Amino acid sequence: MNAHDYAQTHAARFYEQLLALLRIPSISTLKQHAPDVRRAAEWLRADMQRIGLRAQIFQRGHYLPLLYGEWLGAPNAPTVLIYCHYDVQPAALEDGWTSDPFTPTERDGKLYARGALDSKMHVIAHLKALEALLATGQPPVNVKLLFEGEEESGSEHIFQFVAENHARLACDVCVISDGSMYDPQQPLLVYGLRGVTTYELRVFGPKADLHSGAYGGTVHNPIQALAEMLAQLHDAQGRVNVPGFYDDVRPLSADERAALAAVGAWVEKDWQHTAAAPQPWGEADYALQERIGARPTLEINGIAGGFAGEGFKTAIPSKASAKISCRLVPDQDPQRIYQCVRDYLAAITPPTVRSELIELEAGAPALLVERANPAMQAVAAAYERAWGRAPLWMREGGSVPVASVLQQALHKPLVMLPFGYKGGRAHGPDEYIFPEMFHKGIAAALYFYAELAERLRHA
Ligand code: BES
Ligand code: MN
Repeated sequence: MNAHDYAQTHAARFYEQLLALLRIPSISTLKQHAPDVRRAAEWLRADMQRIGLRAQIFQRGHYLPLLYGEWLGAPNAPTVLIYCHYDVQPAALEDGWTSDPFTPTERDGKLYARGALDSKMHVIAHLKALEALLATGQPPVNVKLLFEGEEESGSEHIFQFVAENHARLACDVCVISDGSMYDPQQPLLVYGLRGVTTYELRVFGPKADLHSGAYGGTVHNPIQALAEMLAQLHDAQGRVNVPGFYDDVRPLSADERAALAAVGAWVEKDWQHTAAAPQPWGEADYALQERIGARPTLEINGIAGGFAGEGFKTAIPSKASAKISCRLVPDQDPQRIYQCVRDYLAAITPPTVRSELIELEAGAPALLVERANPAMQAVAAAYERAWGRAPLWMREGGSVPVASVLQQALHKPLVMLPFGYKGGRAHGPDEYIFPEMFHKGIAAALYFYAELAERLRHA
């Protein structure tokens, strides 16, 4: 029996194991769930050991556990490092879920559960691909698995771990398995991710909240001042107004624009279906897929201030704030972008208020993989074999903070291996996957190892 036959024979049990992991609410952004994150790590470690890997949980300080497993039984074959994350975003029935987010439930051929798409399907698919290989012979490559438990909450532990463990993580190719495609039947190759940096803008006015009748008309309301500042962050054409913001942006070549155009109709359709705002917005000179993958943005993610509860309070607030993030493309430097945004906001702060811009998390630069890279070509071939169809190419707009850290630390090609469906509402209520994509993911991982071994041998 070969590994693909084994995966088919054991498909039902593999799926049950995915359900078991989905029942553990490994929410990394809520402290009270730290024991659940630990339980998920232990569950995964036990399965790694059962299938024949050496596995170890790394825990330190207040950080969440990081899981590392390896099989290095093929001394002459290349080594692949696979990164996935097993933590999830918060979810509760009240957020609008149809069934409990941590009781995986099937309806109409879809499996609903928090973390199904982002990213436990990837975690289990890789584990089960390895089980199939180990149970039926010998994997064609050496494998190192790095499973993170705090991707959704800052990734600090893994940054330190990577810095301190170059030798342990040494490999020929690094795989980030996360992400999704537009159509379950149409494979999509992701060769780019945007970087990200996050800030809080705080605006301070009077020393305490004031009666808006007694002082209104004499004090610059901090919410108003904040709104005036935020309104100057973009021009009427949807471009970011911050001086220097676009200085280092790597332009899109005509060749790449043509290649990306093939995915345009899918992106458009997804936008109409999922975003479904009255009209698209943004840089008119760029198609949607280009705005998402290859252009930087500045977003206002939240705004706070004053009294917005039930009833009314006629007061001028003493402060207001906004959360702001930028998505970055090659070759923007997160630190330089922070300085540009900070200096611009300082320059447009009216003299009637005081403001500050705090950087919230260490920013991550963007990632771009050479499409002709042999590892990328191995992904393309694997997807074509698993889906029976030539894949499309896309640059994603989301970010995986550790990706660029791994790329810089290991100096090896890094590729993305997404198995999810984009309509599956990652981070939202009623997150779901198509179970068949989980099984296709296992097949794609198996083909990828075979293709990679082949290509690196001839490289
Ligand atoms: N799975 C996503 C990253 C992703 C999104 C990859 C879309 C491909 C397409 C990941 O779990 C995530 O949500 N990342 C965050 C990172 C942030 C909190 C620093 C993101 O992109 O917002
Ligand atoms: Mn996520």
